[in-house]
Amino acid sequence: MTRANPRFRVFATCNIGDEALELLRRRGYELEVYDQLEAPPKSLVLEKVRSGIDGLITTLRDPIDAEVFEAGKGTLRVVAQDAVGFDNISRADANRYKIPFTHTADVLTEATAEFALLMLASVARKLYPSERLVRENRWGAWHPFLPFLGDEVTGKTLAVIGTGRIGQALIKKGVGFDNDILCYDPTFQAHDFVRKIQEIMDLRHRHGFSPERRTIRYVDFEEALRHADFVSLHVPLLREGEAARPTYHLINEKTLRLMKPTAYLINTSRGPVVDEQALAAAIKANIIAGAALDVFEEEPLPADSPLRDPAIEDRVRLFHHFASAGRITRLSTDPNKGMAGRTVQALIDALEGNYGGNPAEMPYVVNKEAFR
Ligand code: GLV
Repeated sequence: MTRANPRFRVFATCNIGDEALELLRRRGYELEVYDQLEAPPKSLVLEKVRSGIDGLITTLRDPIDAEVFEAGKGTLRVVAQDAVGFDNISRADANRYKIPFTHTADVLTEATAEFALLMLASVARKLYPSERLVRENRWGAWHPFLPFLGDEVTGKTLAVIGTGRIGQALIKKGVGFDNDILCYDPTFQAHDFVRKIQEIMDLRHRHGFSPERRTIRYVDFEEALRHADFVSLHVPLLREGEAARPTYHLINEKTLRLMKPTAYLINTSRGPVVDEQALAAAIKANIIAGAALDVFEEEPLPADSPLRDPAIEDRVRLFHHFASAGRITRLSTDPNKGMAGRTVQALIDALEGNYGGNPAEMPYVVNKEAFR
């Protein structure tokens, strides 16, 4: 059933999906969409917020800080972010102004973990150099090991740094690849989950699906780095002062040196978790074998990034912040399947006063602490 809500005015900084946005229009919302490829300038966002909109739909490209919340004082009732990560939104300022903000956890978990695994495979098995060889007509002859070999994924040791939703989803996939799994998380340890994964590993071994018994365990960060063949990052970006254990430049010159020279780094979390200068230098110096990256310190990746160095091209896979970009994951209007659907539902919950009008009870609100 559609309900008329002519009173709600919403500005979307991006077209997050026509069908999902149409749900708002059908409910009588007055919706303005900044329908460009690039993010709107901050001055425009401020102007819209100052004009008294009730809801703001954002993406990870929009800095939502004290200035925005101040501009929306007394009028802005929700910021609905079309992403799981929210390091672009100042939680402290949202709380100060008591404005709930929402995100799209869960619906992109499998797509992102799947992409992390595929990126990992792509760098280790040299998919890009292989295809380039064929396309450039440089494939001279079949040979047992020339012009290059890749590294198998099956049976290797996978370190999962961050064992929240996406880290756990990757672990489940790693079980199918007979990986030994080392878990590290600075704040949250899913011991029950890890115990169950070990049970599944044991069952696979007993039934002969895994020739060797595989193991999963929590270890400290150093041990994870020292022993892994693949290190996959699944932590939120937390800068100095934002958490007791910041994740900014968690991977740096020093920590890269702990990794094996045959190991690969995979990043689908946030770019600044990795010091890119140090990473490019480490790959060039053969301190680690390579990396596959979907996120960068600056996005889009600058033309002069050291990660583009042709000397390391075959060992560095670069993607355009693409991990969650599956059709259903990005666009489904079902809040249990798609980011667009979840963003819109989160906005509706907040503006229409679902869950007794209490943001602390609304499932997609991040800063529940401000409303308890
Ligand atoms: C993508 O990076 C997201 O946070 O949703």
